[in-house]
Amino acid sequence: MKKIIYTGTIVAIVLQSACNQSGQKSTETADTISQDSSISFNSKIEGKEVNLYTLTNNKNAKASITNYGARLVSLLVPNKEGKLTDVVLGYDNAQTYKENKTSYFGAIVGRYGNRIAKGKFTLDGKTYQLEQNDGENSLHGGNNGIYDKVWDAKQVNDKTLKLTYHSPDGEAGYPGNVAIAVTYTLTDDNELAIDYTATTDKETVLNLTNHAYFNLNGEGDATILDHELTIHANEITPVDETLIPTGDLLDVTKTPFDFRKATVIGARIEADDQQLKRGKGYDHNFVLNKKEGLQSAAVVYSPKTGIQMDVLTEEPGIQFYSGNFMEGGKNIGKGGKDYGHRSAFCLETQHFPDSPNQPTFPSTVLKPSDTYKTKTVYKFLVK
Ligand code: BGC
Repeated sequence: MKKIIYTGTIVAIVLQSACNQSGQKSTETADTISQDSSISFNSKIEGKEVNLYTLTNNKNAKASITNYGARLVSLLVPNKEGKLTDVVLGYDNAQTYKENKTSYFGAIVGRYGNRIAKGKFTLDGKTYQLEQNDGENSLHGGNNGIYDKVWDAKQVNDKTLKLTYHSPDGEAGYPGNVAIAVTYTLTDDNELAIDYTATTDKETVLNLTNHAYFNLNGEGDATILDHELTIHANEITPVDETLIPTGDLLDVTKTPFDFRKATVIGARIEADDQQLKRGKGYDHNFVLNKKEGLQSAAVVYSPKTGIQMDVLTEEPGIQFYSGNFMEGGKNIGKGGKDYGHRSAFCLETQHFPDSPNQPTFPSTVLKPSDTYKTKTVYKFLVK
C-alpha cells in the first residue's frame, strides 16, 4: 500500500528544468468526429501565462493539456472505425476553466484529492484547519487548491509534458512547502500515463489524482449509463450523509457495487440502496484488490464506439463518480455542448478519502525525508 519511497533530489532537478513554453495548437484531421477544441488557450490567469500543450503518438492519438490546473483538456483516441473520438469533457478556453474551476474538469486536484471531514486533521500534535468548500468538509484541496493554480510546464518531446507547482507552506491550510511534479506521457500503445512526485519540508498529507470526466461515446454524448464497467474491488469504503467514509469496509457481494464482472453502469444505479442514495448514484471509493505496483484497477467499455479504457494504478483506491451532480444547462462545454446529468464518469485513482482522520486506512502522511511517487495509466483500445 505504501507509495512513499525516497528518491533523493529528483523533484529539485525537475523544478530547475521547468520553464514556460509556448503552447501548441492541435490540428484537426478529417477523421476527427468529436472535436479537439483548442481555441484561445494562450491567455493569462492571475498574471501567469496559460497555454495548451499537445502530445501525439504514432497512432494519431492526441492529448491536450493546459498548465492551468495541469488539466487534461482533450484526449483523442481511435474508435472501432478508426476515427478519433475525444473522450474527455472540457471547455474551449482557459477563462471558462477558471470560471468553472469547481467542475474540476481534467484537473490535478489536491493537495488532498477527495474529502477530509470538517476540513480538519491533526499531525504531530498540531491541528490544521483547511478550507471547507463542500458543506463542512474540504473537497479536492479546498477553494484554493492546486487545480486553480498556473503550473510551470516543459514539453520534453512530442509525447511528454512535465508540469511543476510549488505549493507554499500554509496554502489552503496545509503545512509544508510542497514541490509537486506531474508528467503526462502519451505512449505509442495509446496509453496516457500520469506520473506524480512530490517532496515537502514539513510533515504533511498529500493525495493527488486526476479528475478527468470521461465519456467513451465521445464528450457531449448524453449518457455514460450504457458503458460497461469492471472494478477489481471486493470492498468499498461506505460513506455517511456528507460522503465521508464511516471507517468500515463494505463487502460488495450482492450489492449494486459489485463490478467484479463487467456490468452496465445504469443497470443498478437507481436501486433501493442506502449508499447509492447518499451518493445520488455512484460516488464511492473502491478498495482495490491489487497489491503493490502498477496493476489494473478498472476497465470501461462503450459498445457504441468500441472504445475500451483500462485504468492501471499504484494507488490503493479508486473513486467511481457517475456524474450525479452534473445538470443540464449548467455546464456548457467544448463547442457549446451541454453536459447533462450523468453524461460523464470519473475514475480517480487515490488513497482513501479522509485518511488523515482514519487510522485504519493506508497513510497519506508525507515526511520531509520521503518522496511521494505514484503512477496511473489510462490505456485505450478498441473491441
Ligand atoms: C467527488 C464528487 C464531486 C465531484 C466533483 C468527485 O471526486 O467524489 O462528490 O461531486 O468530484 O466535484
